[in-house]
Amino acid sequence: TKDTFVLGIETSCDETAVAIVKNGTEIVSNVVASQIESHKRFGGVVPEIASRHHVEQMTIVLEEAIQESGLTWEDIDAIAVTEGPGLVGALLVGVNTAKALAFAKQKPLVGVHHIAGHIYANRLEQEFEFPLLALIVSGGHTELILMKEHGAYEVIGETRDDAAGEAYDKVARMLKLPYPGGPHIDRLAAEGKESIDFPRAWLEEGSYDFSFSGLKSAVINKIHNAKQRGETLKDEDIAASFQASVIEVLTEKTLRAAKEYNVNQVIVAGGVAANKGLRSELEDKFAQTDIPLLVPPLKLCTDNAAMIAAAGTINFEQGKRAGSDLNANASLLL
Ligand code: KG4
Ligand code: ZN
Repeated sequence: TKDTFVLGIETSCDETAVAIVKNGTEIVSNVVASQIESHKRFGGVVPEIASRHHVEQMTIVLEEAIQESGLTWEDIDAIAVTEGPGLVGALLVGVNTAKALAFAKQKPLVGVHHIAGHIYANRLEQEFEFPLLALIVSGGHTELILMKEHGAYEVIGETRDDAAGEAYDKVARMLKLPYPGGPHIDRLAAEGKESIDFPRAWLEEGSYDFSFSGLKSAVINKIHNAKQRGETLKDEDIAASFQASVIEVLTEKTLRAAKEYNVNQVIVAGGVAANKGLRSELEDKFAQTDIPLLVPPLKLCTDNAAMIAAAGTINFEQGKRAGSDLNANASLLL
């Protein structure tokens, strides 16, 4: 049978990315232009700046992804694009590029949910085994998702307030670390001791939901109180203690859900999946079970377009098509 090549486009936040994926499982080319440097001095992503950068970078990144693939437009079977969730102005750049290309090159157009993309980043490493449990931990999302087949997502738990990455970024900001703060906290945590007893938000018995705003407030209070009392707290210890709370809750809930739903595979996705402490704790805990754990390589954890092309391949194969009326949807549901 003929191979399927899908070109993916991702512009939901601060990475302009284009990639080509073969049969939903193999990266042919994968180009990411990060804007982190432009947002750093503002301490977070500035939507207007993000949109403008996407416009400036898009054609360059697109050209590069095609060059790198060695393919021609004739080889491309479909164009997949992130339609949401994300920053609406940023999403629109990707969506309009995809629509223009689909029209000009006469290719089918496929819309992709950003989180489906994060999940499918794992399929670029290893084939899925259903039922499967996905832990999504990114700057905007913290979710436990059950999948019984390709393209079907059942949310069994989600955050009620801040996302895990958001909590990392906010705590990092208090410690005056640069944006995005996750990797810095991760690095500091490895050098510190878990000397502060921060709360664990287990919520109601049996709940797979998450909550990180209480923990974030506990960290703020701890820093303020210490300052008032003239106590010195080491940033490394704050980072280690904060991270321990996040990791314990994420790991325990994932483990419990994996057992309850009797899954054949657990996958981790999203920017926070790059966290060294989380990766090693999940690996330790799952090694004690017979459930295989799949953690993507760092490069595929953060936003990229290969994951969008991979998820888009499934939509394409399932006959899902978007029309020329495809629009960006900042709060698209999975
Ligand atoms: O998935 P992603 O690239 O973008 C979103 O869709 O949100 O995730 C970005 C988030 C940021 O909050 C960043 O601080 C966090 O992932 N992050 C980390 C690490 N690397 C990135 N958080 C903790 N530890 C890390 N090593
Ligand atoms: Zn993301």
